Amino acid sequence: MRKKIVAGNWKMNNALGQSIQLAEEITEQLASINNEAVVVLIPSFIALASIEKIISGQKNIFLGAQNVYPKMNGAYTGEISTEMLKSVDVKYVLVGHSERRDLFYESAEFLKEKIEALLQADLTPIFCCGESLTIRQEQKQEDFVRIQLEKSLLHLSAKQILNCVIAYEPIWAIGSGLNASAEQAQQMHQFIRETISEKYDQVTANSISILYGGSCKPDNAKSIFSQPDVDGGLIGGASLKAKDFISIIQSI
Ligand code: PGA
Repeated sequence: MRKKIVAGNWKMNNALGQSIQLAEEITEQLASINNEAVVVLIPSFIALASIEKIISGQKNIFLGAQNVYPKMNGAYTGEISTEMLKSVDVKYVLVGHSERRDLFYESAEFLKEKIEALLQADLTPIFCCGESLTIRQEQKQEDFVRIQLEKSLLHLSAKQILNCVIAYEPIWAIGSGLNASAEQAQQMHQFIRETISEKYDQVTANSISILYGGSCKPDNAKSIFSQPDVDGGLIGGASLKAKDFISIIQSI
């Protein structure tokens, strides 16, 4: 059975005190619900060590990081290594978020390096892919996503790709309030799974969790998550309020 995952990407929000408070609220509320999903909190780097203490020992809740640099250590001012992330018990790391690709010019080749570094360190990459509005209007979204996968992920061995999570995040849906419909999400998730199946095999494809991201909210999470190829969500804005995030987790 594939893992169901709900990950909260807090992006560049919340100073330390607010991060601690949010993590405490989420942890407390999670303890009182019957939750089958793996929950991942992805705060800024400054909050990782404090949140590790809050969630340690709690069932089904893990720490994620928003970024990593694919070198072991050294003169890379401003960057963070896999070893540093592991020292605060990070388990998941975002790679290829559209904000990193667009605002920080991260290339497919660079993302490939990050993925390799993460796998080598036994960390799980959450590989983000997704098309812009123009590409969707031209109905070229499947080709576009297939190329993103081919350039950064599909060189891995079957064993390695089983240690990755994929997040489909159409750029036009991120932070826009315009979520993909359940049908649009299912279509793309099925396409991604078929692409993996062609490259590897059906068993491998069926074992990989594919999350949806982009304006996922309490009122649309249930219909999106009920699709057969959607295994959870990568949540931005709605993960900043404990009540909304918990309600999304309960929609799994
Ligand atoms: P959003 O962001 O939920 O605010 O649209 C999702 C993401 O960027 O991961």
